[in-house]
Amino acid sequence: MEKILKFPEGFLWGTATSAYQVEGGIENNDWAKDFPAGRACDHYNLYEKDFDLLKSLNQNAYRFSIEWSRIEPEEGKFDEKEIEHYKKVILALKERGVIPFLTLHHFTNPLWFAKKGGWENKKSVEYFCRFVEKIMSNFRGLVEFWMTFNEPQVLIDQGYLLGEWPPFKKNIFSAIKVFKNIKKSHQRAFEIIHKIDPDSKAGIVNTDAYFEPYQKDSVFDRVACFLVKYFSGDIFWFRGYMDFLGLNYYQHARLQFHPLKFYRIRNENKFLSDINWEIYPEGIFHVLKDLQKYNLPIFITENGLADAKDKLRKDFIKDHLFWIHRAIQEGVDVRGYFHWSLIDNFEWAKGFEPRFGLIEIDYKTLERKLRPSALYFAKICKENQLPLNPKP
Ligand code: GCO
Repeated sequence: MEKILKFPEGFLWGTATSAYQVEGGIENNDWAKDFPAGRACDHYNLYEKDFDLLKSLNQNAYRFSIEWSRIEPEEGKFDEKEIEHYKKVILALKERGVIPFLTLHHFTNPLWFAKKGGWENKKSVEYFCRFVEKIMSNFRGLVEFWMTFNEPQVLIDQGYLLGEWPPFKKNIFSAIKVFKNIKKSHQRAFEIIHKIDPDSKAGIVNTDAYFEPYQKDSVFDRVACFLVKYFSGDIFWFRGYMDFLGLNYYQHARLQFHPLKFYRIRNENKFLSDINWEIYPEGIFHVLKDLQKYNLPIFITENGLADAKDKLRKDFIKDHLFWIHRAIQEGVDVRGYFHWSLIDNFEWAKGFEPRFGLIEIDYKTLERKLRPSALYFAKICKENQLPLNPKP
């Protein structure tokens, strides 16, 4: 007999995207010059079509972001047409019975903001909060779930320590400044959101890898593990200012202490995605157990893989949901799961090559084609349960 794992009543099932990765036609931000996304998936124009697909796949929630550079193309000048556009996007979701989860900042900044020093500038807090106020006063009552920042630590690592993303810096002092300004911006935005719409809920989205010591009984490996976890942007930096936690889970790292390099990653890498990220579903269980201490509702705001041929995605979904279910059984308050992503999209510095979508995009014709895993996920969303031995 087929074994079935039931999810709690009211569990949310959906997918996630971000504006720059899917919309197309964004030229006024700090990514466009070095990493142009062109028309991307043209989601800006085709959003209704995409939401019809999402609905047909039984999803009842959708996480997306609004592009700051569209709303405020010049400092202090807001484009009412673009505000109207996003209002229509929100209403299109609601008409379909889909709950919007709105991210205010997903990596990209308006060009004017970047030119003023971006997040290193002390005034960044003020600029961001002015934008948040504008959005809140327009969308009050339309959106319940707000996320201020997507993965601040990834933004800081890639943009200010590794120098791989705009503004291409490798400077620890810049990184610290940016961290402080983002932290303050999050705290103030959290307050603004609640002041303008007391019924709304606000949180932040963190990416948490599962770090474990290579040898459990090695003190060195354990210390390396603790320090890496601590400095890789643990969510506790934002404690006190969250109604819920957003967790993006992608990575696992078995850390071995190394006298020169401090640590080495010693993963088994039995299963790898197209971009060589190890697939390690059990890790999400450990991360969730670790987050339990915050005593807050948790949404898995992203989880997915690059898999152009759709060979691994079905098992990926099944295995991660198995471990999420186990965490729920052990008392972790997980309220929803957003797969990354609804459609193939622009994977930042890696461009359009990695294919993360449940739906395939033909970038020439913009045709959308369901991958088999989309239908598998749709069945789970519909039944609110996971069959462990799905029939072919
Ligand atoms: C991130 C972002 C997404 C990515 C996704 C796959 O984690 O970098 O939130 O925009 O596209 O995570 O890498």
